[in-house]
Amino acid sequence: MTTIVRTVEEWRRVRSTLDGDVGFVPTMGALHEGHLSLVRRSLNENPHTVVSIFVNPTQFNDASDLEHYPRTEDEDLRMLGEAGVDYAFLPSREIIYPDEYRYRVTESEFSRVLCGAHRPGHFDGVLTVCLRLFSIVRPTRAYFGEKDYQQLRLVENMARSFFLDLEIVPCPIVREPDGLAMSSRNRRLSADGRRTAAEFARVLREGSDPATIRAELGAMNLVVDYVEEIEGRRFGAVVVEGVRLIDNVPLTPEA
Ligand code: PAJ
Repeated sequence: MTTIVRTVEEWRRVRSTLDGDVGFVPTMGALHEGHLSLVRRSLNENPHTVVSIFVNPTQFNDASDLEHYPRTEDEDLRMLGEAGVDYAFLPSREIIYPDEYRYRVTESEFSRVLCGAHRPGHFDGVLTVCLRLFSIVRPTRAYFGEKDYQQLRLVENMARSFFLDLEIVPCPIVREPDGLAMSSRNRRLSADGRRTAAEFARVLREGSDPATIRAELGAMNLVVDYVEEIEGRRFGAVVVEGVRLIDNVPLTPEA
């Protein structure tokens, strides 16, 4: 049975009764196998696991993207129950942002490239909500997917920079059988869009260099936000049927 917790006070009461390590998986819901891989890892490594579901408004730079973000709370809770998660933290916007987001975390370098260059303010929102969630939950370990590689690195560096007493655990990307990285946003695609999305993943993986890949993707009726190679990885972001998709692959198997 998953216990649902909605307020900070309630969680603090629970937290003070927990003995041993606490694993934490922050999410925005619309859960799929990608999220569940993080959840299972946390369940394996900690006696207690808490999963948060909060569609964080401050990381959406596009109002329509926030409005259309899939919300499937009942199904999410069913999946967490089946997986054996102890606690689900489902705060409201008022609970996370009592200051109306007047206080925020800003990173001034790596957050400005790749996704940050195309989504102003996005990573300020991500880092701020993660810091707030970490302060509330007080986890021993927090699990993040390499699917959102830039986010993972920024959260790791924030934790180090602010001397946060927790471990950030990176988890590999979970893909559909056709190679498309699982994402809550995939469910907004038509069958045609879904095929184009799988092609995006294939071209990103198999293409020879960013310029060629950009040209190939452009010829496929999708908008290319970026294809870039940084620190031994290739990163790509495209828009298919108005849905923004991101992916990344190591340039060598070891990278
Ligand atoms: P969300 O997109 O719901 O993702 C929650 C976590 O699941 C992230 O760490 C993400 O990288 C991971 N994840 C998603 N799809 C994955 C896949 N196919 N394989 C492996 N991991 C995957 O990322 C966010 O939410 C938010 O920005 C959040 C960190 C919760 C802050 O609001």
